[in-house]
Amino acid sequence: MSDVLEMAAVSVVRGAKTLLDKVDWQVKEGERWVILGPNGAGKTTLLQIAAARIHPTSGMAGILEEILGAVDVFELRPRIGLSSAALANQIPEHEKVLNVVVTAAYGVTGRWREGYERDDERRAFALLNEWGMGPLLNRPFASLSEGERKRVQIARALMTDPELLLLDEPAAGLDLAGREDLVHRLSELARDEAAPAIVLVTHHLEEVPPGFTHAMLMRDGGVVAQGPIDSVLTAENLSETFGLPLDVSASAGRYTATARR
Ligand SMILES: Nc1ncnc2c1ncn2[C@@H]1O[C@H](COP(=O)(O)OP(=O)(O)O)[C@@H](O)[C@H]1O
Ligand SMILES: [Mg+2]
Repeated sequence: MSDVLEMAAVSVVRGAKTLLDKVDWQVKEGERWVILGPNGAGKTTLLQIAAARIHPTSGMAGILEEILGAVDVFELRPRIGLSSAALANQIPEHEKVLNVVVTAAYGVTGRWREGYERDDERRAFALLNEWGMGPLLNRPFASLSEGERKRVQIARALMTDPELLLLDEPAAGLDLAGREDLVHRLSELARDEAAPAIVLVTHHLEEVPPGFTHAMLMRDGGVVAQGPIDSVLTAENLSETFGLPLDVSASAGRYTATARR
């Protein structure tokens, strides 16, 4: 079994709709994956399986050498860092930035009990500093800019020192400066050998950070292509994925796609 993720014929069906259709996927330690595809392709659904938040309808999902369905998910989840819009929406407006990060150690949002260990606070503070948020640790989460919020969410996802980091559209809603700052930070994280395996979901090719090693392209719940990033992010594959003829260019590890005229 692959050490980080091992999915075999994973399907998710809800009513008459197939959200994921027999997905095979392996992620190994040290790999940095980007998952690209249009809205509705099934990216978030796949990430929710990888995060042990939902179970496949059929197929096998191995996560960190445990089989989903045969493991206590409450023991598995702290080993996985997750940042998503759904999770961000659960953070109470007045929650202080430091608490948004500290509470990840207890798998909750909202600081509902006192008496956190000093070590946890120190770790949360160190992570906030790394992500340029140290000076804002006492600010209410709701008062932050969108870019600041994204950085706090990533610091939170890293709080439990996870073996797998899952980022669902971390650059969504950012302006150009905010996006470029985040892409740069994620690129540095990708190149940090001490960082966990990373899976980043996006529908914008421009958001792929340099240093990511692998890519998966999804459409209609299925995989169009997957493998080493350069072999996957081609004009042909991306045109098929997004359903329109695209020109793709790459420069200094950054990718751009434009419609072919
Ligand atoms: N509980 C559900 N029941 C039916 N359809 C769903 C459910 N959850 C998601 N979907 C649909 O499944 C598709 C895939 O969703 P999602 O994984 O969120 O895609 P993506 O993240 O790639 O945009 C979408 O068309 C979405 O509307
Ligand atoms: Mg999504």
